[in-house]
Amino acid sequence: MDNLDLKKLTLRNFRSYKNLDLQFNSKFIYFSGPNGIGKTNILEAISLFSPGRGLRNANISDLNQVKNKNLWHLSAILNISNIFMEIEIGLDKTGKKHLRIDGKKKPLFCLAEIFKILWITPLMDRLWIGASNERRRFLDRLVMNFFPHHAKYCILYDQALTKRNLLFKDNEKDEAWFIAIEKQLAEIGYFIDKYRREVINLLSKMQLNMKNKGYFPILDIGLNTNPINNMDEFFENLKKNRKNDYKFKRTLIGPHKSDLIIHHIVKNMPAKNCSTGEQKSLLLSLFILSSLAISKKFQQPPIILLDEIVAHLDKENLKILLEQLISINAQIFASGTDKSNFDIFPPNFLSYNLNWDKEKMCMNLN
Ligand SMILES: Nc1ncnc2c1ncn2[C@@H]1O[C@H](COP(=O)(O)OP(=O)(O)OP(=O)(O)O)[C@@H](O)[C@H]1O
Ligand SMILES: [Mg+2]
Repeated sequence: MDNLDLKKLTLRNFRSYKNLDLQFNSKFIYFSGPNGIGKTNILEAISLFSPGRGLRNANISDLNQVKNKNLWHLSAILNISNIFMEIEIGLDKTGKKHLRIDGKKKPLFCLAEIFKILWITPLMDRLWIGASNERRRFLDRLVMNFFPHHAKYCILYDQALTKRNLLFKDNEKDEAWFIAIEKQLAEIGYFIDKYRREVINLLSKMQLNMKNKGYFPILDIGLNTNPINNMDEFFENLKKNRKNDYKFKRTLIGPHKSDLIIHHIVKNMPAKNCSTGEQKSLLLSLFILSSLAISKKFQQPPIILLDEIVAHLDKENLKILLEQLISINAQIFASGTDKSNFDIFPPNFLSYNLNWDKEKMCMNLN
């Protein structure tokens, strides 16, 4: 099993930080401080080292520090089994996110090949009762960890879908255009569906490896749509459905319509009908399973971000969650407004207390 640690992180012109330099000589790092001090901003910066838009799903231009003309830039030093690597990301002048590894420019999908990052944030509390696109995005982000090309496929699929829907809106009848776009949708859509199902399968099987389950329930995980068996079949179905899609001016079949469905097995209850606490426990079960599955498949633990986790779990269950994550040797970055759970944090944890220096009107780090 590889060891993987984030050793240093620097933030430049990023959200509330003009300059911030952090060092992490620990497997467990806890950021504490009052509301609005910048805890989530640091976790968000780490999350941006994975493909996509990070833990707030923010537009990359919103990450620039307001009233600061310089572009945001983040750098991380990683230690992967004693091999050190510098990874830099930032916004370039063309408005795109760029990546450099040890000073060399690389395509963004390389990020998912180097390391995996998983997070839980308070925004996810409504995942099971919110809109289906949120659950799809959640699943796709997970899938990208297992299949780095999934990120690119999702973008290409959305682009092709927009083109097909535009043909309906423009009352376009050109068969050749439809066929070209439908072929593309069928090819990419097949892989998107296949990768999602493979990951769901992996997570379901992983439940046998969960040691101390505590309050984290056993799940039935699935999609609400039939599998796409092959590209040709999906292509034919798109063609067949064209008449119907014309009526609604949009594409009504395909993986963009799939929803992630979770059942609480013991209660025999879909997640959306579970209590608030139960919904949180279902989410954390899925989170633990994902962490275990990544570490098993890649022989390397993911980096874990837990934003405000203390607010949602009692001490006993927080302890069980941490035990599961520590058992795979994952480096964990957590945040919270208080320090009341220090006694259950692992030994040698590192704590950063962020607070305002009222005299200098700037943030203190200690
Ligand atoms: N682009 C930006 N430029 C400057 N400041 C920003 C930018 N985006 C967000 N901020 C500010 O960063 C501050 C810290 O936000 P952050 O969400 O990290 O706080 P927090 O410590 O996690 O607070 P809470 O405990 O309430 O979750 C906020 O005051 C926010 O307004
Ligand atoms: Mg926060």
